[in-house]
Amino acid sequence: MSDNSILGKSKIHTAFGIDIGGSGIKGAPVDLRTGEFAADRVRIPTPQPATPDAVAATVAEVVDSFKLRRTVPIGVTFPAVVLHGVAQSAANVDPSWIGTDIEKTLRAATGRRVLAVNDADAAGFAEVEYGAARGVPGLVIVVTLGTGIGTALINDGVLVPNTELGHLEIDGFDAEVRASDAARDREDLSWEQWSERLQRYFSVVENLFWPDLFVVGGGVSKKYQEFLPRLTLRAPIVPAALRNAAGIVGAARLAARAH
Ligand code: BGC
Repeated sequence: MSDNSILGKSKIHTAFGIDIGGSGIKGAPVDLRTGEFAADRVRIPTPQPATPDAVAATVAEVVDSFKLRRTVPIGVTFPAVVLHGVAQSAANVDPSWIGTDIEKTLRAATGRRVLAVNDADAAGFAEVEYGAARGVPGLVIVVTLGTGIGTALINDGVLVPNTELGHLEIDGFDAEVRASDAARDREDLSWEQWSERLQRYFSVVENLFWPDLFVVGGGVSKKYQEFLPRLTLRAPIVPAALRNAAGIVGAARLAARAH
């Protein structure tokens, strides 16, 4: 996607991204011209229980540790379905989030406008804008393998949000229960065993959506050599380029675009 749409006209060169995860809440300013952090990331452990009020207070702490201008767009990732700022699901987060207006809650806590997006959507968008899928025409599906399975569907640079393909029912199971990185851990699967589950998962997704490219993110993607070469698919499948930074970078970029 050309930079002009976001950067040229509005002259926004920096936005702030926050990644709300199960173990840490991380934030950094992002240089939108390069997709790199403009300053070191700050990370504060996620409060437990991770209720809306507790998380909002931590997000405010992360924001306050930077001297941000009032006008800097802020984007935040959330590991659930996010419709118009409101959390709709809670597969791997505190159930008290369901129905919570994330944007309103964080605005009250930080005193700033915040855009909330699904975590995989943010990470996927970052890969398309700055990472492994940059310049790839057609349909890109980004799959994040972590506690759950997150997905982002981006067609010619246009994100279709909240696809939730980690919850496809495959062989009678919610897909992420069998094929997430957490499942590999929990069941102590070898790379080979896990790859078989991934093969089944990616084949189903491929046969339904026919993407031009798969990008695989999540912490385990740095060990991609252990499992990606074992997969046989029609579309190429490559590791994410931005790794841990993808959520923050994508959320910042989406916030700048919405600004
Ligand atoms: C959630 C998704 C999320 C993914 C990765 C899934 O369980 O339903 O919304 O993107 O986990 O965190």
